[in-house]
Amino acid sequence: MSHARKYLIAGNWKMNLNSAEGAELAQDVASLVGQQTEVSVCLSPTYTALESVSKVVNKSNLLLGAQNMHQEAAGAYTGEISAEMLRHLFASFVILGHSERREYCGETDTIVNEKTLAALAANLKPIVCVGETLEEREAGRISEVIKTQVQGALVGVTTAQAENLVIAYEPVWAIGTGKTATPEMAEAVHAEIRSLLSGLFGAEAADKIRILYGGSMKPENADDLLAQPNIDGGLIGGAALKANAFAGIVESALKLSK
Ligand code: PGA
Repeated sequence: MSHARKYLIAGNWKMNLNSAEGAELAQDVASLVGQQTEVSVCLSPTYTALESVSKVVNKSNLLLGAQNMHQEAAGAYTGEISAEMLRHLFASFVILGHSERREYCGETDTIVNEKTLAALAANLKPIVCVGETLEEREAGRISEVIKTQVQGALVGVTTAQAENLVIAYEPVWAIGTGKTATPEMAEAVHAEIRSLLSGLFGAEAADKIRILYGGSMKPENADDLLAQPNIDGGLIGGAALKANAFAGIVESALKLSK
């Protein structure tokens, strides 16, 4: 069985690991799954570990991602980091609009949109995160919330740029809670996202965009999630901090790629 798009397994280390610890974990992941090329594998450390992890990643087929960036190219934005600075360290991806940033840092769809456009302009592939809260799910508002977030994040993105986009569906209630959406629940939302993308960019471009699932993905549930036709990878938090667990998820994607 093979999947329509190349899987992307992206680790989101969140605010964990200093630069030395990050390099060590990257080395362990590289030893396990750093040579294969069938699945894209990306590690997203904190800003302070980007450079040390970059050095490890660059000697393998692993890719580097960041967890956030500022939308402006440079200037008086104390504490911020630009897309160009990430590119300079050979980052390929940047996670944007993670629900933790929406909740704790006040990121709106407009800000996520500005960051998405800035990332694409700098040749960084944005991993745009969307997802409903438990309250929104229980109120039957999933489609409305997802539509607002997807369309809001992608205003002004051209069809030519769309192939560099990645969307991550992360139901907020499943993040770090051990509660995973069932493969069927996730697939239903992924299919909706693909049809929204098709409305924005046409079916051909939408078919090339990878849509990741995130929220308590681990080796035990990865096979069933990744086997869904519109689930093209994972954004992994907790399980990305353990080399064996993270590599196990990559192995699931490898198996399904054959
Ligand atoms: P989790 O985090 O795998 O720990 O649920 C996923 C994420 O927040 O990206």
